[in-house]
Amino acid sequence: MAVEFVSIDALGASEGLEVDLRGWLYNKRRSKGLYFLMLRDGSGLLQCVVEDSQVDEESRQAAHHATQESALAVTGSVVRDARQVGGFEVRVTRLRLVGKADDYPITPKAHGVDFLLDRRHLWLRSRRQWAIMRVRNRVIMSIHEFFQERGFLQMDAPVLTENAVEGTSTLFSIDYFGQPAFLAQSGQLYGEAMAMAFGKIYTFGPTFRAEKSKTRRHLTEFWMIEPEMAFFDLDMNMELAEDFLVRIVRDAVRDCADELHVLGRDVEPLIRVQKPFPRLTYTEAVDLLRSDETADLLARRQEELMQEREDLESERTKIKKQYGQAKAWKKRKMDARDIEINARMAEIDEELRNIPVWTESVRSFQWGGDFGGSDETLLTWHFDRPIIVSHFPADVKAFYMKRDPEDDRIALGMDVLAPEGFGEVIGGGERASNLAFLERQVEAHGLPRDAFEWYLDLRRYGSVPHSGFGLGLERTVSWICRLNHIRETIPFPRLVGRLSP
Ligand code: 4AD
Ligand code: MG
Repeated sequence: MAVEFVSIDALGASEGLEVDLRGWLYNKRRSKGLYFLMLRDGSGLLQCVVEDSQVDEESRQAAHHATQESALAVTGSVVRDARQVGGFEVRVTRLRLVGKADDYPITPKAHGVDFLLDRRHLWLRSRRQWAIMRVRNRVIMSIHEFFQERGFLQMDAPVLTENAVEGTSTLFSIDYFGQPAFLAQSGQLYGEAMAMAFGKIYTFGPTFRAEKSKTRRHLTEFWMIEPEMAFFDLDMNMELAEDFLVRIVRDAVRDCADELHVLGRDVEPLIRVQKPFPRLTYTEAVDLLRSDETADLLARRQEELMQEREDLESERTKIKKQYGQAKAWKKRKMDARDIEINARMAEIDEELRNIPVWTESVRSFQWGGDFGGSDETLLTWHFDRPIIVSHFPADVKAFYMKRDPEDDRIALGMDVLAPEGFGEVIGGGERASNLAFLERQVEAHGLPRDAFEWYLDLRRYGSVPHSGFGLGLERTVSWICRLNHIRETIPFPRLVGRLSP
């Protein structure tokens, strides 16, 4: 069957030709016998011009009645026009209304985030979401390409499990025909079994964490990519993680220029994502946190925020002054900007209130504690690219981690922290390969021995040094897009207090 309509991002091949398009009305303008219809088809945006005198009555009616998000069938000729989004425009010869939209709830004015999350099924149609989802898609493709090119086998771990991986406090429990079971927190333990069978594998699946944390970094359901490699030590693992991130970011910068532009993402910090990433041990990271340099960074941050606050304040005063005389369309713009300013002000004020607490808490950070999100943020401010922190206190890490042969208090874990304050995007390390040690760990962590027998078998039958890590897909997309909150990086976010739509 012949292709019946073209997509907007492929219009270049049809310059000068008449084409059929299908899509939805993004917005509409009327001026001097012309309708300017902005058509959205998922692949991009396109201006379609309907001239009253050039089309039949049904087309004129369709243009007149088309409302925001009405579905349209457009026929017209493709004209190159560098000033237009996408570089083309279509002069319409025929327009049909496929499905009318009455009172689409998401209008060009600004909406609060809860309003939008409640309408996530519609919000996905907006330009900003278009950009984010396309970056997500690019990242997913890069992940597969990277591992497939290196001979890794993609294998899936089960979602329904009988055991905990990352501690028992964040498990969602379910009833499995009368037997207690859990949603997977990680595919790692199964990944280890698959690596012993296939050498190098990676899982790519949904994972669940029942943490009640309402932060900008936490989802309760997210997608994790977990490579696991037999005969890899910690250094080989870190090198792989480094190559992996460099590749993902390079591809996104190369292929998602339009998307990152829509998001207002400065790509300079992404271009700096090059090897080698600075490496610190946990102990070095703690020293850095407690240093004067960190206190200086916080003081500078405080000044920046106060300056930003002042600038916003004067912008708001200016808007108030001009509001009375402004035209209706200008008023709408001002209202939207006002909502943005208020939201940003609230963020600034919260951070300003936090800075003294924060300064105090990093100064008095004790060796042995786990880094919180704000500690990670501070560490990343010292560097212009991702950093790798390794050699953590064993007490804050999972039961399966190998101990440092030179210091039994240390686990051979590693985290990759993304710059610009984003923090952990990768967590992993070298796994313990010694049977007796793991038996003691299962016991010490209060884990049910029965459910771990199969895992212990991996140490009974040809145990080898091995390593792996987990990349959080949404954390990575959030950083590449430089979003304030992780919730927009997944089509339908699951958060504490949000299960719908
Ligand atoms: O550091 P985590 O908990 O490590 C593991 O699960 C290991 N079993 C991985 C492995 O070695 N195979 O999680 C790995 C990554 C984090 O670095 C983060 O990017 C992401 O998963 N992540 C989350 N993303 C969104 N919301 C949450 N609640 C997340 N928790 C972890
Ligand atoms: Mg972690």
